Amino acid sequence: ESKLQLVCLQDYEEHASQVLPSFVLDFYRGGADQEQTLQDNRESFKRWRLMPRVLRGVERRSMTTTALGYPVSAPIAIAPTAMQKMAHEMGELATAKAASDEGIVYVLSTVATSTIEEVSTVAPEGNNWFQLYIYKDRQVTVDMVRRAEQANFKALVVTVDTVILGRRLATERNELSDSGSSTSNNFVASLFDPSLTWKDITWLKSITKMPIVVKGILRPDDAELAVQHGVAAIAVSNHGGRQLDGVPATIDALPAIVKQVNGRCEVYVDGGITQGTDVFKALALGARMVFLGRPVLWGLAHSGEAGVVSIIRLLKKELDLAMALSGCSSVTDIDRSLVVHQSFFSN
Ligand code: FNR
Repeated sequence: ESKLQLVCLQDYEEHASQVLPSFVLDFYRGGADQEQTLQDNRESFKRWRLMPRVLRGVERRSMTTTALGYPVSAPIAIAPTAMQKMAHEMGELATAKAASDEGIVYVLSTVATSTIEEVSTVAPEGNNWFQLYIYKDRQVTVDMVRRAEQANFKALVVTVDTVILGRRLATERNELSDSGSSTSNNFVASLFDPSLTWKDITWLKSITKMPIVVKGILRPDDAELAVQHGVAAIAVSNHGGRQLDGVPATIDALPAIVKQVNGRCEVYVDGGITQGTDVFKALALGARMVFLGRPVLWGLAHSGEAGVVSIIRLLKKELDLAMALSGCSSVTDIDRSLVVHQSFFSN
């Protein structure tokens, strides 16, 4: 094992690629099909350039904000990712504890290797949200919602881009060569309900008082429908490039959705965020908060809870730096004028 000094999120990814079993790495890292969208999520951030302001007195800075009315220490949250115990024996419990200690939102996946109750026991003060896949058997869903309510979870994140599972080719190859671990993931996915419509969002609202976040929106017209169905927030997401390959990078889909929503609900984004300037760009383009998927798994693989804390602190430090160097003292200072798309410069 190498003696890498880990000073940025990519270093943790590099470390994870050295220590994780290859089938786990393939499952975590992979995207759908030819992975165009997976790559684009990251590449597109580079196509947005920063336009910093100077001489704005930035000696006192704060990145605190709120999400669904709850205070958070930073506009950075943990995305739901399946089966975290493949990265570290404490899995979701390490992640939830790290998020709670760092004062950020944690989203527990439906497809987790820890229970709702265990998460609330290790992180009782945490701002825990529950990601919901709606099952064909609605009673299973109702039971999960009730358990999340009882465990004091603050919101439901309904993932709408996974009516069936996308094809991840590396995982398929591993399954064919019989080293596969993701068979159980495919089995779980077969329980999801592809007949879902907006009526099911109305139904979900009718059975719970928890605010609903719809995750996996890429179009302004769908964002409009989400608002009309009374969601509390929209997460612009392409599932980390793991579902429909060929959809745009989330950072490119974000601006039109922010414009359409026009403040009527909160808008979040995830996909390809690996550094503080990525968070900054997402906020400048109108996101209230960003979610991290894979980087958290790399932190977990490194050293469980401590590794996830390191990932969060690194990103906070980098966001603080981006703010200072752009003339921003608070997240509300991060406005649309601070980023320009590269196409502007080639005209
Ligand atoms: C995911 N994602 C995901 N989303 C969800 O709603 N429920 C889930 O169970 C999972 N599981 C999952 C597993 C793994 C290994 C990955 C990488 C992703 C998607 C996740 O919430 C998020 O949208 C993306 O991961 C964000 O992109 P980045 O940060 O990984 O680039």
